[in-house]
Amino acid sequence: MIFVIFGGTGDLSYRKLLPALYRMAGRDVLDQDFRLIAISNDPHDSQSYRKKVQSALSDYLESPPAEPEALERFLEKAEYLQMELDQPEGYRLLKDLVASCPKGDRIFYYFAVTPELFPVIAEHLDEVDLCDHQKRKLSLLIEKPFGRDLKSAMALNRKLNTRFPEETIFRIDHYLGKPMARNILTLRFANDILEPLWNNRHIESIQITVSESAGVAHRGRFYDRFGALRDMVQSHLLQLTAITMMEPPESLGSDHVRDQKVQVLERLSLPQERDIWDNVVLGQYDANPDHPEVAAYQEEEDVAEDSLTETYAALRLFVHNDRWEGVPVYLRTGKRLARKYAQIVVTFRDTVRHRLFGDHPAVHANVLVISIQPDEAVSFRMNMENFGLGEIYSATRMSSCTECLPDLNTPEAYETLLGEAFRGERSSFTRWDEVEHAWRFVDQITRQCEGKRREHLKRYPVWTDGPKEADELLARHDSSWVGKDD
Ligand code: BG6
Repeated sequence: MIFVIFGGTGDLSYRKLLPALYRMAGRDVLDQDFRLIAISNDPHDSQSYRKKVQSALSDYLESPPAEPEALERFLEKAEYLQMELDQPEGYRLLKDLVASCPKGDRIFYYFAVTPELFPVIAEHLDEVDLCDHQKRKLSLLIEKPFGRDLKSAMALNRKLNTRFPEETIFRIDHYLGKPMARNILTLRFANDILEPLWNNRHIESIQITVSESAGVAHRGRFYDRFGALRDMVQSHLLQLTAITMMEPPESLGSDHVRDQKVQVLERLSLPQERDIWDNVVLGQYDANPDHPEVAAYQEEEDVAEDSLTETYAALRLFVHNDRWEGVPVYLRTGKRLARKYAQIVVTFRDTVRHRLFGDHPAVHANVLVISIQPDEAVSFRMNMENFGLGEIYSATRMSSCTECLPDLNTPEAYETLLGEAFRGERSSFTRWDEVEHAWRFVDQITRQCEGKRREHLKRYPVWTDGPKEADELLARHDSSWVGKDD
């Protein structure tokens, strides 16, 4: 197998892909004949690139490589090719390199570059006959963002499909590689007690929070064109929504799972009130006198001084089907918030509570919290009498915390996803129709917000909980956000 990374000297390669491949090599998951070809226009040869790989592994692996022979074996598999991605010459060299690999009958192309280059690379590969699906088994792995809106995503898809049919494309959403996001299917469908309750008769609301404490770092140029709705909601938050709310699939086979996710994504809508701002809050981080060392968004590198891009979004939406009609889904995500965590909160209705406790002020609705990061945990809040203290009730958590990740967004998600791609399993990769429906929904929102941002974008000080309007959004519906450890 040959694994070709376009963008082999980028952050993604050094931080995620190479550590993931190294760990897979250590677990003997990669073939003996595995070859890695890293491509970029940085001036390296294979020797100097291997040194870079070695230092990336020391920097980004949880425990740096301990066995020199294993490290050497891995590094020997790597070749480097310096080339301009938009020029034909380099592709001819790539073809020679591929031909020199003894068993190069299976190629994975990983496009770890900006999406504008995706069709350019595909076209050049085709010109040198490296896109021939008859001769070799070819797969294409690509990162989000897949387009910037529905129109650009469709155009990109059309261009890619001329060289790579849908069944050869693996679109990565790294949240689908996170252990607890993957666990949602098991939690829902391997536990008989949950399925009968998983509907609008028993569930009052669903909240999904992906909160980040980091800012945009060096990605200002990209981020300022995208913002939280396009960068996070269209992908990670809607994927989590789809898994949480989908119907039971016929099997765990990839098309059955993705068919059900699509059914959710195509039925998403904001309430049909005239004013979008009744259901959408957009915010942008601003300076905080308590943290003078942290820049406001508009002062970040490559961000426009008068930028109206949202770094925070909160939404109230619905999924229109028999199971979920009337259950509000609250999504929120933002950068430079007080804490980094991601969780799904399912609040059950308390209308069925036995009359004996009906009015008791200390008795609360049952809540199921699926914590995706930093800890991977499920906890269920139940009402109990405080032992030995008589009539005082407290919310008791029954929880299962498997482990607390020492580092967030660790290579494990990529390891899992690459492993699945190598085995040809596709359920953790987004199919085109999922992307399409997610964009359709996000486009509706961005379109309605356009032109009104100046007036409605809420500034929030860095390292706080975001705009207070997001709290008010829920308060108007007698609800409130459940924070981490609430
Ligand atoms: C990426 C977004 O997809 O996910 C980033 O482009 C974001 O803006 C990141 O920071 C968050 O991932 P994680 O795994 O750190 O929660």
